[in-house]
Amino acid sequence: MEKIERNAPCWCGSGKKYKICHAAFDDKLKKFAREPYPVPTRDLIKTPEQIEGIRASSKINIAVLDYVAEHIHMGMTTAEIDEMVYQKTTELGGIPAPLGYEGFPCSCCISVNSVVCHGIPDEDTYLEDGDIVNVDVSTIYNGYFSDSSRMFLIGNVSEDARRLVDVVEQSLQVGLAEVKPWKRLGDMGAAIHEFIKKNGYTVVREIGGHGIGLEFHEEPWVSYVSKKGTEMLLVPGMVFTIEPMVNMGRQEIFIDDEDGWTVYTEDGSLSAQWEITVLVTETGYEILTY
Ligand code: MF3
Ligand code: CO
Repeated sequence: MEKIERNAPCWCGSGKKYKICHAAFDDKLKKFAREPYPVPTRDLIKTPEQIEGIRASSKINIAVLDYVAEHIHMGMTTAEIDEMVYQKTTELGGIPAPLGYEGFPCSCCISVNSVVCHGIPDEDTYLEDGDIVNVDVSTIYNGYFSDSSRMFLIGNVSEDARRLVDVVEQSLQVGLAEVKPWKRLGDMGAAIHEFIKKNGYTVVREIGGHGIGLEFHEEPWVSYVSKKGTEMLLVPGMVFTIEPMVNMGRQEIFIDDEDGWTVYTEDGSLSAQWEITVLVTETGYEILTY
């Protein structure tokens, strides 16, 4: 942590002197830094100005998903949804973050049924009666990043598949209940894992959530199979995603050899995911995207 002279302006941009602003906060962090698990570096603690920027980006991300929710229907292709995401995002002044990200060819990820995540929209994939579909949207606005995904049910979805989708959505609330400043991130993941196991499903281990804001993917990596009392300390100003991927069958996954992106369940079972972006506040959390 870079040392600041006590009468110098605080690093958070408040304009106040450091000694009456974040000096006590930094001292508290230093104490936690003696524990075996990491504390956030300063770039992971967003300033009020940065939080406003992420909030504005998040508003677009929510509006784009709301737009998808209004227009998604049986018989359309995933490429058509991608086109909607591109049009709506740019109309609102944003840039779709996935487009060109590490070579990703589209504006969002669309993952149908046994696709766990990172499905590439295409003209040959039609939404069919009974499908469960994840649409994962990420936005860059004024340099700030936001990210969220929702599940959509197409036509008559089986009772089993509906329950999977509902349980994963509920798991976000279970995780959120553990998001409090000065607690460990691992508590959140542990709570989600317990809840999913209790409901008879499995959690994907290899892919998780992430810090976000100034970059698409920042520290910390966010697991949903973590242990209580482990992982990064949560402090006010941190922003990260909660996005568990849950399989109806076994937890194992594989990545498509040909496209290098699409992640499938190994056993072909259904998979569901919901993603939100949260800000850690002085008292708990605030949901920035859903
Ligand atoms: N929205 C996904 C996430 O949660 C983004 C995957 S990277 C992409 O991190 F290139 F596929 F978009
Ligand atoms: Co994400």
